[in-house]
Amino acid sequence: MNIILLGPPGAGKGTQAKRLEEKYNLVQLSTGDMLRALVASGSELGRQAKAIMDQGQLMPDELMVEMIAKRVDEPDCANGFILDGFPRTTGQAQALDKMLAEKGLKLDHVIEMKVDDAALVERITGRYTCAACGAGYHDKFQVPKVVGVCDSCGGTEFKRRSDDNEATVRSRLEAFYAQTAPILPYYRDKGVLKTVDGMAEIDEVTKQIGALL
Ligand code: AP5
Repeated sequence: MNIILLGPPGAGKGTQAKRLEEKYNLVQLSTGDMLRALVASGSELGRQAKAIMDQGQLMPDELMVEMIAKRVDEPDCANGFILDGFPRTTGQAQALDKMLAEKGLKLDHVIEMKVDDAALVERITGRYTCAACGAGYHDKFQVPKVVGVCDSCGGTEFKRRSDDNEATVRSRLEAFYAQTAPILPYYRDKGVLKTVDGMAEIDEVTKQIGALL
């Protein structure tokens, strides 16, 4: 099963992708995570990526398509994948269709996660992750069971993304409405688009997605 989770920054794509990975034995393919790994590598391309990401703008389509095309070929994707953060432009959506057709694969579900803009800013500015295992948390909406200790690995160090500040979130939202939202009619016309209420509580969103799959 191959799925796209589509939604604005902070909609909950990463949160739900992690749950789907476990439940359906799929692999989360997050282009944001791939880019952050590139930044951490310290390469020249990584430095360029950091500058673009910190401005809340999008990376070039060709680079993103190439990243996904390579990753989909890896053996762990054989049972299916969840695209989180890709495609983000009509060009990427068209390239994805072509790529999947060439590989003999298909898209089973495109799930739109709808969330109000005001909630997105609060979600993103309160988000943090475990520095050791990457488990995601939120100051208000997803606190660890023991404050300051990661539920998953017991780690006590946490980090926040450099693009998770209010000014960059506003730019990311602008990029979403200008470049990513136009993909929605593309998938609606193909008859694969389904929508969930991303404003609901995390467990409820998981239930809504489960009911669609
Ligand atoms: P990326 O990393 O993809 O960021 P994004 O799309 O902005 O999405 P986020 O990771 O911010 O949000 P999310 O929807 O995963 O929310 P989450 O589950 O964490 O991209 C970063 C940058 O990389 C881009 O700006 C761009 O520069 C570049 N890039 C990436 N892909 C690209 C591409 N294909 N082309 C070009 N450039 C690309 O949830 C957020 C918080 O809310 C968490 O704390 C969570 O606990 C909480 N939360 C989640 N669900 C709920 C809920 N239902 N109720 C309450 N709180 C909730």
